[in-house]
Amino acid sequence: MKIISVAIDGPSGAGKSTIARAAARELGFTYVDTGAMYRALGLAASERGVDMEDGEALSGLLAGLGMKIEYIDGVQHIFIDGRDVSDDIRKPEISMAASKVSARPQVRQALVALQRDMAKRQSVVMDGRDICMHVLPDADVKIYLTASVDDRAERRVAQLKEMGTEVSFEEVRADIEKRDYDDMHRETSPLCQAPDAHLIDTTGFTLEQGMDAVISYIKEKAHVL
Ligand code: DC
Repeated sequence: MKIISVAIDGPSGAGKSTIARAAARELGFTYVDTGAMYRALGLAASERGVDMEDGEALSGLLAGLGMKIEYIDGVQHIFIDGRDVSDDIRKPEISMAASKVSARPQVRQALVALQRDMAKRQSVVMDGRDICMHVLPDADVKIYLTASVDDRAERRVAQLKEMGTEVSFEEVRADIEKRDYDDMHRETSPLCQAPDAHLIDTTGFTLEQGMDAVISYIKEKAHVL
């Protein structure tokens, strides 16, 4: 069977992971959350006091981390040194750490190699910031998923609340704006819409509407199912 790659990029909180995960399940593909890899490294760097501006130190840390991705009941889990950090990496302070470590070219090089390797071996729905332009430039389907800053902040507040973390809307909004700016202005692989990526703006959409829009586009484009 032909191996198919679906690449989804977009800013923080656009619903990428929830939608990409649902799409992967529907299509029988593997979901690869690349943000989790940057988050796991950000978590390790903050726990071990490694300078997040120091690319060499970060790539040394990454090389010794034994970062592993496993699928348990179809859900992606990420491990560092044998410890499942899938929940810890979702903490708000780790979002900023992930953004910082992701700006270092040495880090990106190592993680992109891992991501390409995963897509070579199986059909994937992979989400991130640089998937369409850099990680999988030959992907069968490319989508840029976005929504207004207010919508994204509202969704993030609700998501964190569900996980038992109370945060203010203003705080989350400011955090999202800062991360958008940093992700779009970094030197290596900044976030932008690839010229050949299909734009899906989910502002005002329910989650189901966002999922429908993405899944039907993938099916139409990849001629699957
Ligand atoms: O999607 P996320 O919020 O889990 O991503 C965390 C950080 O990692 C985000 O600030 C940008 C970075 N990232 C990246 O630079 N490239 C990717 N492919 C995925 C995430």
